[in-house]
Amino acid sequence: QMHGAATIIVLGASGDLAGKKTYPALFNLYRTGFLPKDTHIIGYARSNLSRDDYVKRITAHLKIQSDSDKQYLKEFLNMTDYTEGQYDQDESWKKLCKDVSAWEEKRGLQKGQKNRLFYMALPPSVFLTVATGLRKNVYGTEGHNRIVVEKPFGKDLESSTQLAKDLGQLFTEEEIYRIDHYLGKEMVKNIMTLRFANMFLGPMWSAESIDNVQITLKEPFGTEGRGGYFDEFNIIRDVMQNHLLQVFSLVAMEKPAGTDPESIRDSKVKLLRHVKPITLNDSLLGQYIASNGKPGYKDDDTVPKDSICPTFATLVLWVENERWKKVPFILKAGKALDNQKVEIRIQFKETPKGSLYEGAVRNELVLRVQPGEAIYFKFNNKNPGLSNKSITTDLDLTYADRYKDMRVPDAYECLILDVLRGDHSHFVRDDELDAAWRIFTPLLHTIDRDRVQPKPYPYGSRGPKELDKFVEGYGVVRRADVPYQWPVQSVA
Ligand code: BG6
Repeated sequence: QMHGAATIIVLGASGDLAGKKTYPALFNLYRTGFLPKDTHIIGYARSNLSRDDYVKRITAHLKIQSDSDKQYLKEFLNMTDYTEGQYDQDESWKKLCKDVSAWEEKRGLQKGQKNRLFYMALPPSVFLTVATGLRKNVYGTEGHNRIVVEKPFGKDLESSTQLAKDLGQLFTEEEIYRIDHYLGKEMVKNIMTLRFANMFLGPMWSAESIDNVQITLKEPFGTEGRGGYFDEFNIIRDVMQNHLLQVFSLVAMEKPAGTDPESIRDSKVKLLRHVKPITLNDSLLGQYIASNGKPGYKDDDTVPKDSICPTFATLVLWVENERWKKVPFILKAGKALDNQKVEIRIQFKETPKGSLYEGAVRNELVLRVQPGEAIYFKFNNKNPGLSNKSITTDLDLTYADRYKDMRVPDAYECLILDVLRGDHSHFVRDDELDAAWRIFTPLLHTIDRDRVQPKPYPYGSRGPKELDKFVEGYGVVRRADVPYQWPVQSVA
């Protein structure tokens, strides 16, 4: 499905996010034929950048290998230019609007085609100022307007509600696209298909068969350089209230009435309303300390010496409905851990006591989100040959092996394309955000108010030493006695 012309205005074009994510995504969309030739991209920021500086920044993270890439790059650069301006001055915005109109004229766009896409690659401090300036001075009247916004969407329920209200006075919900880039990831987009296109999974997907669900995000690096931002937000706001909760929603929601955006988001909201706010008892918080020559979190100069900011958390969600009765959903995320991975691990119940094969290793269905998309199902099999012993093995769908020539697009590519197409399916709706904050806000406030001390863990470890005991308390079984290992764990 192709979409019409648009002018894409990247606010904060000289910043980190724009260089790392927005422009590479736009370039790849162009290279793969998903950005019409008459698209125009205008970068806008406060920095005084020459054309060369601008080009340098927006191409720093592009992968240009072949001659055809070079050709595409040349064409892509012809589609874009830069406007410098302030964020709080009408004059600057009027100039931007003039630039946008001039390009619309130049491309011969007619009424109805003059679509404008505002991409906010901006820190929260200037967010509303910019949205106000845009609405007042750059909003188009001869085409549609869409605004893409990035987290953080507030810091708790109250601030998020306020932000939604303020933004809602400027743009309609229809015009707003709240990015949670996890929703653009291939394996996350696959959850719906996996669950609802496969009849055999349906009856297994409940408390009847499932013992617990673990959703994990591990990163091997600390907050290097981002300590200032991070200390205010912590791991819970940074990746759990948004990314991991979105993944959880797709795993646990009921089947939507349709595949249209509103049906999907209705289902997610309904689920979230059934989730109890997380208690301190159901959480384990950690903060990394120096180890093996790597700095601790508090060694960062931008972090207060007495910071209690969790850089690691394991939080348990409970869904108050019949399907998930007594099934813990264990969200785990951390910086400076032993490896890098994002996965959903569904651990099934044990064979009953006194039954045949009592004590067999539990089945697990694992969706590996990254690195290297894979789905594998851990199960028991007769050891082939003359033995009758059962061994643990897996059914393995590793994408790199099965879909050999497939390029998995970056999440941002998918999401920007969705915005151009006007598809809200993979974006966060206002009431969803509200329901999400309700689950996390009491815990976040408790942590701040009572200055809950996180447990220390060494940089590069699996997390606080209390972790294994903590998750065992929720029924998670790790069988150190079984020599099974998923063989493709090293895919990069
Ligand atoms: C961002 C967080 O939203 O997501 C980062 O602010 C985190 O702290 C990142 O590293 C993880 O995203 P990805 O796509 O690298 O898994």
